[in-house]
Formats: sequence, structure tokens, C-alpha cells
Amino acid sequence: MTSLAMSQSPSKVLKPEGFTLWMTGLSGSGKSTLAGVLKEIFESKYGRYVEILDGDEIRKGLSRDLGLSREDREEHARRVSYLAKVLSRNGVISIVALISPYRISRQNARETIGEDRFVEVYIKASLEKCEERDPKGLYKKARKGEITNMTGISDPYEPPENPDIEIETELGSPQESAKVLMQNLEKLGFVL
Ligand SMILES: Nc1ncnc2c1ncn2[C@@H]1O[C@H](COP(=O)(O)OP(=O)(O)OP(=O)(O)O)[C@@H](O)[C@H]1O
Ligand SMILES: [Mg+2]
Repeated sequence: MTSLAMSQSPSKVLKPEGFTLWMTGLSGSGKSTLAGVLKEIFESKYGRYVEILDGDEIRKGLSRDLGLSREDREEHARRVSYLAKVLSRNGVISIVALISPYRISRQNARETIGEDRFVEVYIKASLEKCEERDPKGLYKKARKGEITNMTGISDPYEPPENPDIEIETELGSPQESAKVLMQNLEKLGFVL
């Protein structure tokens, strides 16, 4: 057998530490946008493997049986936590972009993934700003009563009380927000 995996003893294969950036925030606060910018930085500047676990995408597959009730949102977050756990314990940086409106879900995610690999990032923008951005037109539909269970309008959002990092996306461009996030990760020791 001459494959790389077989030709080196496991002790010689250095594996960088993985971790999970759990980005929570209102719809339109900037989670997916920032996830994309960060992925690019981690890949091009640090040569790391990154997986974005985006709520919208996962709802098309793994969570396609779930709706927007409290129970289903908690189950959705539980499944995403599991994915993030298995990825980040194998050296991957998991960037979770999930509204995850309930504190208990985020606390459970922290416990599932492990305190030392979990970074809760509050992607913060006022409801007014999110509604003005309305990138998917969801707020407009919610105001017209065309959709229900819209977080911030007809469904609750429990903001983090003590997030590891807080990024106010009304203060600058996505690139500027990503820079601030990276500086915070450096302070926390996740980025050298
Ligand atoms: N500093 C910033 N960081 C991120 N996004 C920003 C920032 N400033 C402006 N924006 C804009 O805000 C919008 C954020 O939309 P985005 O789809 O990323 O939100 P989201 O949090 O993923 O929402 P959802 O939960 O519905 O998926 C985009 O149009 C983006 O260009
Ligand atoms: Mg998104």
C-alpha cells in the first residue's frame, strides 16, 4: 500500500485544531454573508479546511422534514450541532450560519461540540436594519401576513447574554466585520 495515509505513521500527521463558529442573529443580520467572507480568509490566508453549515441549505436536505415551530427549530439546531461536532473534532473549521433563536439550543450546541471548540458569535443588527435590508423579501411577506413564524416579527429571538464575540454589522462592510471577527478570534487564541 503506497497511499499517503498508509505510508506515514499517524503520529507524523499533524492535524490543526478544528473549532466551530456558531453565528446566531436575526434574518438579514449578515450571518451567511460573513460566513462566506470568513471561509475565503481561512482558506486563502491560513490554508484551513472550512465547512459552512448554513441553516437554509441544511433545511433543503438533512432538515427538510422540519418546520418553524419551536420544537422543529430546536431539532434543526441539534442536527447542525452534531455535524459541527464531527467536523470540528477532525480539524475542520465549521462556520454555522443559523438564526438559532433559542438560548437553550445554543447552550446545548456548546455542550455537544465542547467548550474548548465552540465560539458563539452574535451577529447583531437591529430589527429595523434587517427589515430595511430584507435580502430575501421575508420581512415584507411577514408584514403582509403571507408568512408566519418570522423571527423578530411573529416568532421570538433570544439574543445571547454573554456571547464569546459580538459583531455589529451596521457599523461597517462585511469585510470590515470579518476583520473585527478575526481579531477577536486571535484574542481568544483560535487564530495565530
Ligand atoms: N457588515 C456586514 N456584514 C454582513 N452583511 C452585511 C454587512 N453590511 C451589510 N450587509 C448586508 O446585509 C445582508 C445580510 O444578509 P445575509 O443573507 O447574510 O443575512 P443572514 O443573517 O444570513 O439572514 P438569514 O438568517 O435570513 O439567512 C446582505 O445583503 C449584506 O450585503
Ligand atoms: Mg443566511
